Amino acid sequence: MLERTFSIIKPDAVGRNLIGDIYHRFENAGLSIIAARMLHLTREQAEGFYAEHKGKPFFDPLIKFMTSGPIMVQVLEGEDAIRRHREVIGATDPKKAQAGTIRADYAASVQQNAVHGSDSVTSAEREIAYFFSDEDICIRTR
Ligand code: CMP
Repeated sequence: MLERTFSIIKPDAVGRNLIGDIYHRFENAGLSIIAARMLHLTREQAEGFYAEHKGKPFFDPLIKFMTSGPIMVQVLEGEDAIRRHREVIGATDPKKAQAGTIRADYAASVQQNAVHGSDSVTSAEREIAYFFSDEDICIRTR
């Protein structure tokens, strides 16, 4: 089923000039970038995005990390996009991520883990709408 998912290249990976490499991996996995933007999150934006984690011990360090530098946000479209994107990304903990995944190759820790990907249709819809309006989405014509 043709699906959309939401993706972030986090400050650690942007800072290491990995945007092109990571986009290449998405495209090679059959995921098309249909909206994208670079931004530096404010504290309020980061806290709102990660609201479900508020109160967890890693919340404050996570917000500090996510606001430490620019990020790339993108909407990816493709067959089974949510699962495919998560496969390319690998497990949250890089020690558990399969070889060849983005996190196995580039994540330094559970927190500084290079990328974010939506984990369900519901979260993909919420996360896309958090950063993009309908007019930002570019439907592929070829
Ligand atoms: P992400 O996929 O963006 O979703 C929530 C983020 O919180 C996660 O990636 C990690 O960056 C961070 N995170 C999740 N669990 C932990 C943890 N146990 N310790 C530190 N950071 C975590």
